Amino acid sequence: MGFCDDVKTAAEQIAAAPEITIISHIDADGIACEAILSQAISRREIPVRSVFVRQLEPLTMTQVPSDSSLKVFTDLGAGQQNLLLERGFREKEVIIVDHHVSQPCKRQYTQVNCLPYGHTRMSAAGVSYLIAKQLDGANIDLAKLAVIGNVGDMMAREKCGLVGPARDIIVEDGVRHQSVEVRKKDLNCYGTATRPLYLSLAYNDDPYIQGISNNPEGARQFLKRLGIRQQKSDGRWFVWEEIPVEERRIIISALAEQLIANGERVDRLLAETYGFPDEIPRTPLRNAQEYATLLNACGRWSKPQVGGAILRGDRGIAYRDAEHMLNNHRAIIRNLLQFILDSGVKELENLQYIHVGGRYPDTIVGIGAGMALSKLNSAKPILIMCEVPEDKGLTKVSMRTNERVVEKGVDLQKALNDASTEYGGGGGGHKIAAGAYIPKTAEQEFVNRVNRILGEQLAAAGPDNR
Ligand code: C5P
Repeated sequence: MGFCDDVKTAAEQIAAAPEITIISHIDADGIACEAILSQAISRREIPVRSVFVRQLEPLTMTQVPSDSSLKVFTDLGAGQQNLLLERGFREKEVIIVDHHVSQPCKRQYTQVNCLPYGHTRMSAAGVSYLIAKQLDGANIDLAKLAVIGNVGDMMAREKCGLVGPARDIIVEDGVRHQSVEVRKKDLNCYGTATRPLYLSLAYNDDPYIQGISNNPEGARQFLKRLGIRQQKSDGRWFVWEEIPVEERRIIISALAEQLIANGERVDRLLAETYGFPDEIPRTPLRNAQEYATLLNACGRWSKPQVGGAILRGDRGIAYRDAEHMLNNHRAIIRNLLQFILDSGVKELENLQYIHVGGRYPDTIVGIGAGMALSKLNSAKPILIMCEVPEDKGLTKVSMRTNERVVEKGVDLQKALNDASTEYGGGGGGHKIAAGAYIPKTAEQEFVNRVNRILGEQLAAAGPDNR
């Protein structure tokens, strides 16, 4: 059995179901999964309803209905199969569509997971899309949604573009359908559709460009020196996608020179990016990265359905609602980032950590920690803890690191899963980004335990890694 066989098996099981419930994650990837599969299922005239959860854990399992519908878990489930078993779900009642690390379970639930087949850079929306396409070849209009889910889950980050089946099948389908435009050798920068160009450059620190990154005035002067017209006559700032091609070349060459002059590598300056030509210019819907942030804002602020409505084409009330959430999302994350930097982190041998109490929602602390990492000691993973409003006895933990540390042998998913299980909690995710819930009383012991586990991982990978 290969990955394609698993896709086929799931599609057959879905096509034969009289009624389906999708249980999906609240992030951009999970919202894209739901929009892809529920549309593909409705197009077959199978009744389908959806439930979004911030994570599968005992607290949220109550949202999963006990009815006769086939339960399709998307972007979650692989790491929580024992919860499904405890709940008494039989094999025939469940399909798991995921890309997270799978936990062993006594019951063999049908699972379509790209990870065991070595497709490490495909998200659950990618897997959902392959199932949708298997259900009906006409579903290629949904490829765009899968591109957003993949990019939202950072699948394009390390290689500066999507790779593997996410690139060869999904992006290609989007291009064939003319809803996705591939921009080869584009500027590797966030906000190219909505941010004034100098701010886009200044907010980018991958690659870090001396005099420009974290320096809006420096970025503005840099563009001025190049003779780039930055504002319209009415004072409005141009965004990257409005800059004429010739001027874009000039900017890219000058940025490369700046990197070289500082002895830095230039390989991350350019990336393949994915644009959506049928969307309105200067909106976050114009490229996969900004679209994904919009969806994340909806999900993290408890309105994933609004994100789903936008993916289905709503550009009215849902879109206005989402724009509002996006502004709020950005402001709170900026505030959280500043809070982390101002408060400082405590450093242990193999990690740095901070507790933000009840100041920020548990759904965004991981995002803030990830952003803070590049401004802290990025050689050590960051662990952030916060309160869980619905359960005062629980603490949410998020961890983030970078590829360099993962290459040294660190696996945050394993560290958090192993440590949280020891204290009666649960966790999961990826080597580079993972989360967990633990009892509040175990916080300090837990941090020390994770620190020791990371030390063991580094030592096991090689003596030079410590
Ligand atoms: O919650 P956070 O943003 O820190 O999650 C990071 C990654 O870990 C996500 O991919 C999320 O799905 C996963 N995760 C998990 N189990 C948890 C918490 C997070 O699989 N209990």
